[in-house]
Formats: sequence, C-alpha cells, structure tokens
Amino acid sequence: MALTILKGAILSAPALGRLEVTEGGYLIAEDGVITGTFPALPERYAGAPVEDFGGALILQAPADLHLHAPQYPMMGMGMDLPLLDWLNTYAFPTEARFADPGYAREVYRCLAEDLIANGTTRVCMFSSLHREATLILMEELEKAGVTGYVGKVNMDRNGGENLQETTEESMAETLRWLEECGDFRHIRPIVTPRFTPSCTDELMAFLGRLAAERGLPVQSHLSENTAEGDWVRQLHPDCGQYWETYDKYGLWNGRTVMAHCVWCDERERRAMKDAGVTAVHCPDSNQNLCSGVSPVRVLLSEGVKVALGTDVAGGDTLSMLDAASSAIRASKARRILDGWGTDFLTAAEAWYLATSAGAEFFGEKPGFAPGNALHALVLDDSRLLQPHPLTPEERLERCLYHRQPGAVRAVWSAGRRAR
Ligand code: GUN
Ligand code: FE
Repeated sequence: MALTILKGAILSAPALGRLEVTEGGYLIAEDGVITGTFPALPERYAGAPVEDFGGALILQAPADLHLHAPQYPMMGMGMDLPLLDWLNTYAFPTEARFADPGYAREVYRCLAEDLIANGTTRVCMFSSLHREATLILMEELEKAGVTGYVGKVNMDRNGGENLQETTEESMAETLRWLEECGDFRHIRPIVTPRFTPSCTDELMAFLGRLAAERGLPVQSHLSENTAEGDWVRQLHPDCGQYWETYDKYGLWNGRTVMAHCVWCDERERRAMKDAGVTAVHCPDSNQNLCSGVSPVRVLLSEGVKVALGTDVAGGDTLSMLDAASSAIRASKARRILDGWGTDFLTAAEAWYLATSAGAEFFGEKPGFAPGNALHALVLDDSRLLQPHPLTPEERLERCLYHRQPGAVRAVWSAGRRAR
C-alpha cells in the first residue's frame, strides 16, 4: 500500500463560510485516497515517512469548472470588445488554428503544465470543435496530472468560415471522439454544445439523446450577456427563457454545468435549483467582456449550486486563487449596485466555491473528507511580509489577494504527486 503523509498548516473549506484548520497537522492518504486529517500522527502510522512542509499551508487543490483550452494562446488579448464581437474577432479565429495537431500539442502541453503550476488539479474544460486536437488535449492533461472533464465543442452554425461543422460532421465526429477517448484514466468526456446560437435544433436534440443514453455530463453557457440573450430569444421564439433552449433537448439536469448565469431572473434561477444544474461563476471574464455582475449571493441564498471558473480566455488568469478574490470583488460590486442590500462573499466562502463546490461536480465530498482522492496544494507564503503573526485564516485571505510567484510548492492530484 502506498502511503502519503503530509505535515503542515492544513486548511479546508468543507461548507460555505466554514474553514477547518489543523496547524501542525497530518493529512494522510492510502493509495491516493484520504483517510483523514489528524492533529498528531496516529499510532498505526508510527515510523512511516512524513513529508514535513513546516508552517506552509496545505490546502485543497482548486477545481476550475469553466475554461477554454484553445483560447489559452490569446489570454489577455482582445479585451476591448463585448462578448459576441470578441468571439468573432478573437476567439473563433484563434480556435480555428487547432485544426493543426502540431499547434495543439505545443499549446496544450504548456497549458496542462501551467494548470498544475497554479495548483489546479480538476477542470471542466472546452476544447475546440476539432476531434484530433481534443484527444491531444486530453492526453496532455492526463500526462501532467490534471483530472476532470473535457468536451469536444459542437457548433454547426454561426461559427464563420473556419470554425463550423455541418450537422452531420458534428454528430459523426462526436461519436468517433467518444470511441477514441475511452482509455484515459483521469480525463473523461463531457457533452459540449458551445451555446444555443452555435447549435441547430437537430444537433441539440442529438446531443441531448447522446448524453441521456450514455449517462454523460453536459456543459454550456447560459445568460452571460444581454445581446446574447436577445439573440437566443430571436432564435427560439418557442422558448420563453434561455434555459428552456437546453431543457427542451434534455440538456438540463443534475449533470449539467452552465457557465456565467449573470442575467438569470428568478424563474431561471428556480429552474436551475429544481433541476440541480450547477452555475459556474466567472467573475474575471464577466468584467473583461463587460457582460455584467453576477448575483452570486442571490444564487447561493436561493439554493442554486454555484462553483467558480476562470473562463480563460475571457478571463485573464489561470489561477483559481485570483478567481476567488475576483469573486469577492464582484460580489462587492453587486452589493453596491443592489443598494447595499446583498452581502458580499467572504474569503472563506470564495475559497469554498473554488474548491469543495467544484469538487462536488466530480462526485467528491466536501473538504479533505475521508474517501476523497487526495487533491492538495502546498502554498508557501513565508516570503510575504507580515504586520503581525497571522492566523491560517488570515493567511488564506492574503494568498487569494496577493499574487506570489513560486508560492505553489507541491501539488497532489488524484493521489499522485504532480509537482
Ligand atoms: N459563449 C459562447 N462561447 C463562448 C466563449 O468562448 N467564451 C465565453 N465567455 N462565452 C461564450
Ligand atoms: Fe466560456
């Protein structure tokens, strides 16, 4: 049996707003599966090798529930346009380059390594529409130690000249991709209609049937931007609201993640809660593309499942620590816009959204629960100046706000040492 014993300031967020801290504690996994967090080394492990990280923070590794792999080369570019113009001018031409497997290999190797360097070990990710590049992405993530879901994107309308499939191609390539991606251990497929404007009714119906028949999860975009919402209403006069364009085709259930959800009204939010759909809040992207300020606190208080995403490259950072502090800032903007009527997120709440809330989509229990695969991140903040000795909770807050290149000292992903 392979034993992993990590010693340090162990901190997890097992519930919204609750942190569990064991300073000088031991986080133990057997064959990559957590057995527990202990204040002292249990007798049965006496004499076993311990990896002692001193006073460093040992945190849950975060889960990024929404990002676009083929947009990584243009991260931080084209931030001068709103969503729909940005897609046509920057994102689609960049994604079109992934018809070239050599280019895909180069970019995806770099992306996979950079995710681990940032401590992200679980992702729910969009590829491009290209089957071959999608398989390369899955391979590179697997190799680097990233786990989670990757989707070959489906788009049979409104992609322009170089980024569009016929309906038949989209269906056939999706089936072939599913056949060819059966061998990955830690990376699994997710059905990915890009968003309603990208998919004909026929393609949506096919994807809904496919997800149901094979028990596959689904990811897409919902109510991100007002122009997008207007367009969806024009395309679907038969549907009263955006979410119904997914529900109509069986793409709306407890295995669905929807990115953004900035403009969902009360009825759309209730539909999310009733179906168990997870909303992925992407605060950096929402601000960069002038999409809006998501009412995250309202979503949470109404019982909608919420997780966090970077939405690279609408978002400008791979770091989920940055995404967590952005979520706090966005919730403060929302509070101001709401006439001070809604609470902002605390650091503990934002960190819960970045970790346990996302891990739930992968079937894990919150925090460092026994039975979970070990996903952990060692953060060394010892080089930061301190005005006074900080508590672990204060150190977490600082790590969310204060970028510290090189602070990620070690990473475990699904029980394996990834860095
Ligand atoms: N909606 C459809 N495609 C995209 C995308 O690539 N990024 C974002 N932010 N929204 C989208
Ligand atoms: Fe997105």
